[in-house]
Amino acid sequence: MTKRATISAVAHYLPERILTNAELEKTVDTNDEWIRSRTGIAERRVVAEDEATSHMGINSARQIIEKTGIDVAEIDAIIVGTVTPDMFFPSTAALIQDAIGATNAWAFDLNAACSGFIFSLETAAGLIASEKHQKILVVGGDTMTSVLDYEDRTTCILFGDGAGAVLLEPTDGEDGIIDSIMFTDGSGGKRLFMPGGGSRHPATRETVDQRLHYLKQDGREVYKSAVRGMADAAETILSRNGLSGKDLKLFIPHQANKRIIDASAEKLGLSEEQVLINIERVANTTAGTIPIGLSEAVADERLEEGDLLLLSAFGAGFTWGATLIRWGQCQ
Ligand code: COA
Repeated sequence: MTKRATISAVAHYLPERILTNAELEKTVDTNDEWIRSRTGIAERRVVAEDEATSHMGINSARQIIEKTGIDVAEIDAIIVGTVTPDMFFPSTAALIQDAIGATNAWAFDLNAACSGFIFSLETAAGLIASEKHQKILVVGGDTMTSVLDYEDRTTCILFGDGAGAVLLEPTDGEDGIIDSIMFTDGSGGKRLFMPGGGSRHPATRETVDQRLHYLKQDGREVYKSAVRGMADAAETILSRNGLSGKDLKLFIPHQANKRIIDASAEKLGLSEEQVLINIERVANTTAGTIPIGLSEAVADERLEEGDLLLLSAFGAGFTWGATLIRWGQCQ
């Protein structure tokens, strides 16, 4: 019997600046009606000029430290799910570790795109199970506006900036992460990627001229794979635990497109109240969507001790998965 991990605190940070569909209409050939009806998005947040992914992670981490009153020296590890680190290295996790003064924590980033938070949570749960770690800070966040091509109407309307974090600790109770299931299919890599700036196409004047430093996407293929992946992962985890949709208090899916969320929720037979949707205000913040949703759910008192919660995500890689949690005491 290994130690089970539970979420004991959660927080999130959204930048102040709001970018509405109406503003995007002025710069790219799109319109509010199209964006709302095809994606469910009305507005998204954008970081200030002096902000990056670490700032949003640091803010979330500081809220957790403040509300729990933990000694930062007790944090054993920091894992940051992100595909938009402040820079390639050092890791954003190292930047957060330094800023909050978590001198006893080892820290690293995890690249799994929109599945970054649930992959990080799974990694952290494994570290807790090893019984070598007592307190792990798991952050998910992205500054997607830093990799968006604002001349490409098919992608620039979809994403926003934001981050959230949780504190993961061991539990002896019935609460915590009950089960999880994670997948990767690298053959989907060409459907959603950022070709430039890495070792394949290091940044040059040419790569910038060719706009290789921006996100590229085959939206229809990603859409189909996302619906299938999120619903399959969610259904598998429920059925192998002898559960069905009606047993869930809340489903927090990755917020990529309201139609993807609705299709997944329908497959699981969920009612509206059982599904957290904030895409209208926040858009797709990649690794940020799930911790932001979780933090909003806690703030809105949508979760009580003993409730069953299901998280599910799909993203570049392709990566996808689901995490089943029995909610415990969480600040
Ligand atoms: N404004 C207005 N029209 C747009 C537009 C925009 N922002 N973006 C695309 N269009 C146009 C297309 O050019 C196309 O025009 P055409 O028929 O003349 O060629 C038309 O709208 C329909 O495009 P299509 O791609 O079929 O739309 P869609 O219903 O599939 O929606 C996405 C496009 C991108 C919203 C949708 O495919 C999607 O959400 N995919 C998944 C994206 C995702 O989740 N990515 C993150 C990974 S987790």
